[in-house]
Amino acid sequence: MRLQLFLPPTLLLFLCLAFTALRAQDPSVPHLEKRGAATQLIVDGKPFLMLSGELHNSSSSSLDYMKPIWPKLEALGLNTVVTPLSWELIEPKEGSLDFTLVDGLIDQARQSHQRIVFLWLASWKNGMSSYGPAWVKQDTHRFQRVVQHGNAIEVLSPMCPATQEADSLAFAALMRHIRQVDGTEHTVLMMQIENEVGVLGDSRDRSAEASKVFSSPVPAQLTAYLAGHRDQLYPDLHDLWVARGARMSGTWPEVFGDTERADEIFMAWHYARFVQAVVARGKAEYNIPMYVNTWLAGDTTPPGQYPSGGPQPRVIDVWKAAKSDSSSGLDFYSPDLYDPNFEQWCRRYHRDGNPLYMPETVGEAAGAANVFYALGEEAGFGFSPFAIESEADDKDPLGDSYKAIDAIAPLLLQHQSAGDVHGFVLDPGHSTVDFTINGYTLHVSLDNSFDGPAASGFGLIMADGKDSFLGLGKGFRVTFTPRDDATGQAGIAAVDEGSFGDGKWIPARRLNGDEDDQGVAWRFNPHTITTEKISLYRIQ
Ligand code: DGJ
Repeated sequence: MRLQLFLPPTLLLFLCLAFTALRAQDPSVPHLEKRGAATQLIVDGKPFLMLSGELHNSSSSSLDYMKPIWPKLEALGLNTVVTPLSWELIEPKEGSLDFTLVDGLIDQARQSHQRIVFLWLASWKNGMSSYGPAWVKQDTHRFQRVVQHGNAIEVLSPMCPATQEADSLAFAALMRHIRQVDGTEHTVLMMQIENEVGVLGDSRDRSAEASKVFSSPVPAQLTAYLAGHRDQLYPDLHDLWVARGARMSGTWPEVFGDTERADEIFMAWHYARFVQAVVARGKAEYNIPMYVNTWLAGDTTPPGQYPSGGPQPRVIDVWKAAKSDSSSGLDFYSPDLYDPNFEQWCRRYHRDGNPLYMPETVGEAAGAANVFYALGEEAGFGFSPFAIESEADDKDPLGDSYKAIDAIAPLLLQHQSAGDVHGFVLDPGHSTVDFTINGYTLHVSLDNSFDGPAASGFGLIMADGKDSFLGLGKGFRVTFTPRDDATGQAGIAAVDEGSFGDGKWIPARRLNGDEDDQGVAWRFNPHTITTEKISLYRIQ
């Protein structure tokens, strides 16, 4: 006898909704969460610090090529690999999707104890469209191009609905597949959508259609966002909009001026509409964090010399405004940070709820230092030098930094959230920094010891109980002033170097001699990264 189960339609609907809600809320799936002072990446229910690196563009197109690379990355101290994945390789023929490469990369990553951030290289890569499948490239009629100086160029237009639909369909299929193969193991942590989008060579698309839209009203969704977030807008965008009367309606030149800046805002809106729509389709299948990266502009560089419309700090608000609803779009915006003004760019991205993660930056000695600032000072949840396989040898300074930070990662994450950790990078042009933790002002400076002044220094320091601190890094020294007593001074009771094993502090040498200038300063030698604890007493 066949058993039949009849459920009333209302109960069925309830069960479906409950199932969807459960899937959306599964707390073990990677997601971002505001915990105290920091927005953190939560994986399997716990905060996760990504010590990562981005591969060269083409390495991950071949599983054989990747085989010897994974163990090297593991040896370098990485826990996550930022891995390109192109549209052309998973949909070589329209509608026929092949996930062999995706599965192989996930499998290889697992064997080397790595997590993955996939780069969805689809309609754009560095402003160009080289990673579109050939069936997209060939069909210039269906998949429209950007026009410059009267000619269509080989770059897909963000204003073309057919391209948006084709990119979204492929991305949604990819996310469905990743959920199926990785929905419980969580090897894949996040997705980058496209790469460094924006128009190169001109400040905007000059096609007849784009020019017509440029002379039409600015969407009310954008002006309503500007008005609703007036006090939080990036200052540059705020001033530009307010200088023209904070208009709620009008054409693009009327609201933003007839300048290249208006062109950039116009392109930002259209790239953002496209990308936010792709993201929403992917998230409907598998909701893990998704972001876009930025080819950074110089402060006076005209748009078009860098991809015009990409998420520069001054147009991130435009990107946010383009979400169709607040729960389904991009989670954050990232810099590709090669500029020497590292700290300034970190601050420009770590603002107004946008957490800091950089998918691309410089590695080697500079990266080995910068990671301390990004994670310690700006509560970053990940750091990722580009071309990581080129620097993967076990003498690389980046590896030393990653291993030292990895050993204290659970503590660092706790203190990011408590807001009582600071990170810094020092050099002769910027040789001191002061900050406050735990009732003390800490005066940090480049070390100057028996070997002469250190050429560089970096580190991070966090509270470790009353009158004590934990620090790691090299090439700096610290003195302390109690904040609650203008005349009081702090003395050094003891300094211990040590390490963490299974989360427990294992003290090694007591450093109260030359190593600490006989109690004058807490010193970190300029040669190797050390992890040290200090306890203070008050001198009355
Ligand atoms: C930035 C791009 O995002 C990367 O894919 C790569 O092209 C590097 N530039 C090369 O420096």
